[in-house]
Amino acid sequence: MTRTAQELKREVAQAAFDFIAPHLDANAVLGIGTGSTANEFIDILGQSDVSFKSAVASSEASAERLRSHNIPVVELNSVDRIAFYIDGADEANAHLELIKGGGAALTREKIVAAASDVFVCIADESKEVATLGRFPLPIEVIPMAERLVMTALGALGGRPVLRAGVVTDNGNSIIDVHDLHITAPKALETTLNQITGVVCNGLFAHRGADILMLSGESGVRVLRAS
Ligand code: A5P
Repeated sequence: MTRTAQELKREVAQAAFDFIAPHLDANAVLGIGTGSTANEFIDILGQSDVSFKSAVASSEASAERLRSHNIPVVELNSVDRIAFYIDGADEANAHLELIKGGGAALTREKIVAAASDVFVCIADESKEVATLGRFPLPIEVIPMAERLVMTALGALGGRPVLRAGVVTDNGNSIIDVHDLHITAPKALETTLNQITGVVCNGLFAHRGADILMLSGESGVRVLRAS
């Protein structure tokens, strides 16, 4: 029987939980991402009796969901290091480079990923692509720089579209860049970081996933960074 999208998310979240649970102890701090797949992981974690200390959330929405399970949520500034970061993605390639930010949480996600020892990315296999860019690349921008940044993004060959009505947890805007064919993700990530007014871009290439779990009809595949 064909699995629903929800079942695929649940299965890959369960696989991530099963993978990290044996490595946790009472001092472990987890990083928790944002989105519907991360939500499945939060719910599995919340219903488990696994021992860990606390969680750092990549969004207010995830923090709230964690608290609803009585999981202690702490600020990143209060922890030395995060053992595992578990989060979804909008696209992933074979090098475990990602596009993230469909849920507008990319900046905090990139910060939590940078502070984590192991980034476990969880997704269903519809997110797997040969070349990143089919999903519009989210860019978080200081609101007064929207026009300036859109001009710069257009000059790079993309088609920037302001995401209407969205304000990030950091009080900024999101521009989605369509029609990109990203053959050199690390180089583009660096280039985008140089545009004045850009807070963060949704390419996770310099710090991609360490482990990518992809659920499909035949189960969960696990890819590791080489
Ligand atoms: C949030 O900003 C994103 O980076 C999410 O991780 C991404 O959009 C995946 O979300 P879903 O798990 O809901 O597909």
